[in-house]
Amino acid sequence: MGDREILLTKEEIHRRVRELGQEISRRYAGDHLIVVGVLKGAWIFMADLVRSMDIDVFCDFVRVASYGSGTQSSGQVCLLYWPDLDFSGKKVLVVDDIADTGLTLVFLRQKFMEEGAVSVEFCVLLDKPSRRKTEFKPDYVGFTILDHFVVGYGMDFNERFRNMPHVEVYKD
Ligand code: IMP
Ligand code: MG
Repeated sequence: MGDREILLTKEEIHRRVRELGQEISRRYAGDHLIVVGVLKGAWIFMADLVRSMDIDVFCDFVRVASYGSGTQSSGQVCLLYWPDLDFSGKKVLVVDDIADTGLTLVFLRQKFMEEGAVSVEFCVLLDKPSRRKTEFKPDYVGFTILDHFVVGYGMDFNERFRNMPHVEVYKD
């Protein structure tokens, strides 16, 4: 990568993730919570987030593919992996790296409600509200950012850069 623009340092991320973990722990104190990460981007964020929570949680993941060409996001989401858990009567927290168009997360809310979840909340590391194509507001947001394409801390460009401990703006 040429000129680097570091958006969030490792320290900034860790401080904010700890705050989110504490906030979520207070919100769900005494509850049985299922934390579901959206693969693959949420994997590193979720690992840090659940370790900063001091409540008892079940962890699992979903993997989705969204179809659409170029700028035309169809909003059609295909499930590639779905947890083998009973969601009926359960509270679900979906964890994702970025809320972008919001189409995937709206689809997942619907899906968890159909499975009988009593509540579905969303925690994202980054929110890009200017990119939204549907009405969607995450319940817990690490940082709100402008419409930059970012990599690091789990986020990739063609599968690269996921293991960078910070977040930077991707430049060719
Ligand atoms: P959406 O909200 O349904 O559009 O899905 C957003 C997904 O697109 C995120 O979970 C990421 O996996 C991916 N994505 C969006 N913006 C970026 C970015 O800046 N860097 C890396 N992945 C991104
Ligand atoms: Mg993703």
